[in-house]
Amino acid sequence: MREILLSIQRNAVGLVLFAIVTAGAIAVAQVFTADRIEANIRAAEARALNEILPASRYDNDLLNDTLAVDERFNQQLLGPLHENARIFRARKDGKITAVILPVVAPEGYTANIDLIVGVNRDGSIAGVRVVAHKETPGLGDKIEARKSDWITKFVGKSLSNPEQDLWAVKKDGGEFDQFTGATITPRAVVIAVKRALMFFDMHKATLLDSPQEVSFLDHHLGAADGH
Ligand SMILES: Cc1cc2nc3c(=O)[nH]c(=O)nc-3n(C[C@H](O)[C@H](O)[C@H](O)COP(=O)(O)O)c2cc1C
Repeated sequence: MREILLSIQRNAVGLVLFAIVTAGAIAVAQVFTADRIEANIRAAEARALNEILPASRYDNDLLNDTLAVDERFNQQLLGPLHENARIFRARKDGKITAVILPVVAPEGYTANIDLIVGVNRDGSIAGVRVVAHKETPGLGDKIEARKSDWITKFVGKSLSNPEQDLWAVKKDGGEFDQFTGATITPRAVVIAVKRALMFFDMHKATLLDSPQEVSFLDHHLGAADGH
């Protein structure tokens, strides 16, 4: 009897240890996967920034001249952003020539669609790119620049061109094409891009005139250097 009890006890301890180790391994894997996803989004964002704004359009360190999307702004207009989402500012001779806004379209067919929208100082669009999405290959993925030129049609548009009512897909009475058999994805993107323009319009002064922010890292490295 005592033998059996001991054996049960040993098995139980073994099982608990196995559960702890497995749970730990899953937790570690999740952290690394989340980090990798975040890093992939950042890399896609950097590539997309280059596509939207050719190097000739700015002479500052674009990736480090950013604004946090904080309480100063109407964050709802930009959708459910990632925690580290930032606004990039392009300058020439110190003057801001364009801003790049992160925007999330929550009404995609499958999941959120992460976009960046470049807006010139005059409120016209410099370019739009999708940085992450899970839309269906062959249907919704024509929003990617490498799959079709649909996303390039936003260049030069603004809140007054076309007029606000026409900021919709053709099926909804607007100006922008939908795809054959797939209206939900392009509709979500058009609405998100329009929201980005509304955000720019609402916060123009802060976006274009507030001073460059010192990043957390720079600030602390600077402090360590005695600056
Ligand atoms: C398996 C499957 C995947 C789909 N994926 C998408 C998609 O990624 N994007 C999209 O807009 N519609 C997608 N659709 C189609 C939508 O359900 C919907 O019918 C369509 O967007 C409406 O467009 P329509 O009004 O032009 O028919 C998919 C449908 C199916 C059955």
